[in-house]
Amino acid sequence: MPLKPLNIGLVGYGFMGRTHSNAYKRVNDFFDLEYRPVLKAVCGRTEAGAKAFAEKWQYESYETDWRKLIDRKDIDAIDICTPNDTHAPIAIAAAEAGKMVLCEKPLARTLKEAAPMVDAIEKAGVPNTVWYNYRRVPAVTLAKQLIDEGRLGRIYHYRANFLQDWTISADLPQGGAGLWRLDAASAGSGVTGDLLAHCIDTALWLNGSIKNVCATTETFVKERTHTGTGKVEPVKIDDACTFFCRFENGSLGLFESTRYARGHKALYTFEINGEKASIKWDLHDLHRLEYFDYGDPAILRGWKSIHVTDGDHPYMKNWWVPGLQIGYEHTFVHQVADFLQGLSTGKPTSPTFREALETQAVCDAVLDSAEQHKWEDVIQV
Ligand SMILES: NC(=O)c1ccc[n+]([C@@H]2O[C@H](COP(=O)([O-])OP(=O)(O)OC[C@H]3O[C@@H](n4cnc5c(N)ncnc54)[C@H](O)[C@@H]3O)[C@@H](O)[C@H]2O)c1
Repeated sequence: MPLKPLNIGLVGYGFMGRTHSNAYKRVNDFFDLEYRPVLKAVCGRTEAGAKAFAEKWQYESYETDWRKLIDRKDIDAIDICTPNDTHAPIAIAAAEAGKMVLCEKPLARTLKEAAPMVDAIEKAGVPNTVWYNYRRVPAVTLAKQLIDEGRLGRIYHYRANFLQDWTISADLPQGGAGLWRLDAASAGSGVTGDLLAHCIDTALWLNGSIKNVCATTETFVKERTHTGTGKVEPVKIDDACTFFCRFENGSLGLFESTRYARGHKALYTFEINGEKASIKWDLHDLHRLEYFDYGDPAILRGWKSIHVTDGDHPYMKNWWVPGLQIGYEHTFVHQVADFLQGLSTGKPTSPTFREALETQAVCDAVLDSAEQHKWEDVIQV
């Protein structure tokens, strides 16, 4: 039987526009599904750029205004791959037009901006998801499975880092392609919304809700030239953020993120210590899950390095033979596969907008805590 088409309208064709386009193109080659994404239209602000991307990635057409894309009757789903300040207006308009919405993380710049997005999505009742893609690294999905099976027992500690070093140079401007991340007006925040949002999403998924937080932030380079105005302007994002927290399950959390850790490009790591076992994971070695089981005979106890490539491991039966690993881009293929599967089964694709709102609430509490120099409760959403 021919597969049902799902017409995609992609907004933004930078880094994420490429990862998502790649996922749409590959998903049906590896997953048996009822739906097939069709690369119907890509939207960017300049005609030359949008046209070139459409040609390269084989989109059928292009637009230069996202409103026109949303108005089109031949588009089923809007995929938002633009800077954070544009997520809310695009998502709300798309939901109101009855389109499905797939939105890049973080949902928005603040909790206040994100809440009406969730309202619009839920009022429209449209399928939706937020691209916290690290949940779909098979080793991370396996970690979730092990925790849910009770193998760790009571959890005592959750520790996560996301370390980079690409903004150390004071000559780097703020604003513009990629560098919108240094401009608070576009990004909302610095490492908190950009990198810690990933760590928080994974933590909420693996270890449950966070009750309260105590944070500190630093902006090491205080002024940078703004690409838009050409003037040297104050930098209002957090270059680094460290926070500790209490989870609802009684465990303690410790999180650190910075773009000033010389030598680290994208070192996302987490470690979880339970009563019976511990696990740790590292994005630079993403196909491995380290596992220590206190239940092993004493003379054999030690950290195991599980090569997560077996057909029994999450998602892996869809790829190669055991022992052969997959990488970063596959996490997006997995999210598309789950989204398409969800259209058939009616099962929402986690994290939904509603679930991603909780991450936004934690980010807000972290930034408030750093500003107020005190513990902050996380607003329940
Ligand atoms: N899931 C992840 O791991 C991950 C990784 C990187 C970025 N992101 C998120 O993805 C989003 C995009 O980040 P990126 O790294 O792809 O940025 P990018 O700078 O590489 O690309 C952004 C794109 O948006 C376009 N754009 C900006 N304003 C627009 C508008 N009004 N209309 C149409 N197009 C517009 C730009 O021209 C560019 O093509 C951000 O929200 C970011 O936080 C997520």
